[in-house]
Amino acid sequence: MVGNWKMNANHLEAIQMVQKLSYRLDPGDYDRVDVVVAPAFTALRSVQIVIEQDHMPIGLGAQDVHWEPEGAYTGEVSAPMLAKLGVGHVIVGHSERRQMFGETDETVNRKTRAVLDTGMVPVVCVGENLGEREEGRAEEVVIGQVRAGLNRNLGIGSVVVAYEPVWAIGTGRNALPDDAGVMAEMIRETMRDMADTDVAEGTRLLYGGSVNAGNIKDFMAKRHVDGALVGGASLDPDSFAAIVRYFR
Ligand code: 13P
Repeated sequence: MVGNWKMNANHLEAIQMVQKLSYRLDPGDYDRVDVVVAPAFTALRSVQIVIEQDHMPIGLGAQDVHWEPEGAYTGEVSAPMLAKLGVGHVIVGHSERRQMFGETDETVNRKTRAVLDTGMVPVVCVGENLGEREEGRAEEVVIGQVRAGLNRNLGIGSVVVAYEPVWAIGTGRNALPDDAGVMAEMIRETMRDMADTDVAEGTRLLYGGSVNAGNIKDFMAKRHVDGALVGGASLDPDSFAAIVRYFR
């Protein structure tokens, strides 16, 4: 379960959020579920220190990365910089970045490679927008994004793929669990076609888009949905903890 905090929480608030989350989880939860929080860049160092000092079994995630390891790229942050901070997962190609910040399949592919080369796990986001779904092109769009983002990247290290239909993000309008299940199966199928079966089966698929404590169980019941990428509901430690403990 990955909490994407997006552009919320300064470093002091982020410290409190991860502490509150850890109070609400116990060893049995961590045995069942891998938990990752992805704060803003400015909070990574503070959250890392708290996680380490208190030995929290919570993974640290980043929300974006540049594809080059260093250089004249004002405002950017590289994969080696993140790895040095103890970051284990990096969200790549989030739809908000694709829509608002010019992220393309090509940059998603390069960023994914940079994350893998640095020994971290990319969380590659794919998903159709409302127009594409209404035109009946959802599957074609998502398959295209999976192929483009993962081309020459599958099999190098662990990859996580997050299916996040754009129309379901931050709208309170989640995809039907059946639809998410079908899309996840199709993503698995696409990976089987691109790499060997072990890689395809071993890749975790997340659903994202208005996930909350009330609907998480229905998504997790789908065979090919292995977890969730959670935005709004991850900002509240109570609700994110309830999502992590969906199996109870
Ligand atoms: P919401 O859970 O707020 O819909 O956001 C989903 C998301 O974009 C996670 O990356």
